[in-house]
Amino acid sequence: MPYKILEKRELGKSGVLFEMVLDTPLIAQKAYAGNFILLRINETGERFPLTIADYDRDKGTITIVYQVVGKSTKLLSHQNVGDEILDVVGPLGNKIHIQKYEYPVIIIGGGVGLAPCYPQAKELKEAGNTVITIIGARNTDLLFWREKMRSVSDELIICTDDGTEGIKGVVTAPLKELIIKQKISIVIAIGPLIMMKYVALTTDGSGDLPKVKTYASLNTIMIDGTGMCGGCRFSTIDGDIYYACVDGPDVDAHMVDFDNLLTRSIRFIEQEKQSLKQYDHECKAMNKFQEEVS
Ligand SMILES: Cc1cc2nc3c(=O)[nH]c(=O)nc-3n(C[C@H](O)[C@H](O)[C@H](O)COP(=O)(O)OP(=O)(O)OC[C@H]3O[C@@H](n4cnc5c(N)ncnc54)[C@H](O)[C@@H]3O)c2cc1C
Ligand code: FES
Repeated sequence: MPYKILEKRELGKSGVLFEMVLDTPLIAQKAYAGNFILLRINETGERFPLTIADYDRDKGTITIVYQVVGKSTKLLSHQNVGDEILDVVGPLGNKIHIQKYEYPVIIIGGGVGLAPCYPQAKELKEAGNTVITIIGARNTDLLFWREKMRSVSDELIICTDDGTEGIKGVVTAPLKELIIKQKISIVIAIGPLIMMKYVALTTDGSGDLPKVKTYASLNTIMIDGTGMCGGCRFSTIDGDIYYACVDGPDVDAHMVDFDNLLTRSIRFIEQEKQSLKQYDHECKAMNKFQEEVS
């Protein structure tokens, strides 16, 4: 059954970030923070995962936010309001465990990972927690949802690598300061693998800082999303094997072998480049054809 795109807007000023609202009544009824969907845009498209960044049970809609990085996300950015997505499967993955914690909760969103932070911050805030959110991006043009995040946070800290907004530097700097200043119950990190690796190293108790329970949302390559294909496999530092789609995507960050995962995440890089090149070529040919017939 195809799923209609009800809304589409560009986020930030980078030209690569988009938000879409999809008409998915059954998925909206069952969605919780931490869940994701698998999409296949058309018959020749690949299946790829995106987090449910928001949901509205009454309207029967879910919101997705994505960054154009390759062929599938570019193809999605070429869809418009009224267009239909062929398959949307979900909600998949485990919802995060919501409870009232004794001390504040820190949520860290890096880049497009900021979007999946929203439902987590919202549900943790509704459960009565003090929520401190740190958002980070390379520059101000890649930041979005500031007010939305502020509305579900007791404190919002903004960081940019180049200092064009907020604190100049990476998210682990304010994280360290907060852990030194006060007791923290949990840290949740969602963003690039390298960011989550350094958040985990900051909170694992191996340095001068106390250990803080930390969750990372693993954005591995996924295909079936049901534990069958092995695409999302990750290993722990003890050598155990897990699957991000069924054991996560939010997992104990201190058990993840991030170096192994970083290597696995680039294993199809040549095929991904080739696929994007081919798609760009087809788009150019199609545009030329349309110009000629119009
Ligand atoms: C559970 C889960 C939730 C996700 N939620 C979101 C989301 O809400 N918004 C969003 O923008 N992305 C999200 N991702 C990542 C998203 O699935 C990939 O960016 C997408 O599949 C890339 O497809 P592509 O064909 O456009 O690019 P590809 O051609 O597949 O990849 C192009 C380049 O993008 C990078 N890339 C590829 N796959 C990933 C990945 N899984 N994670 C990070 N970088 C990758 C690599 O550098 C790669 O070379 C999520 C991933 C998972 C596993
Ligand atoms: S995506 Fe296939 S096992 Fe997880």
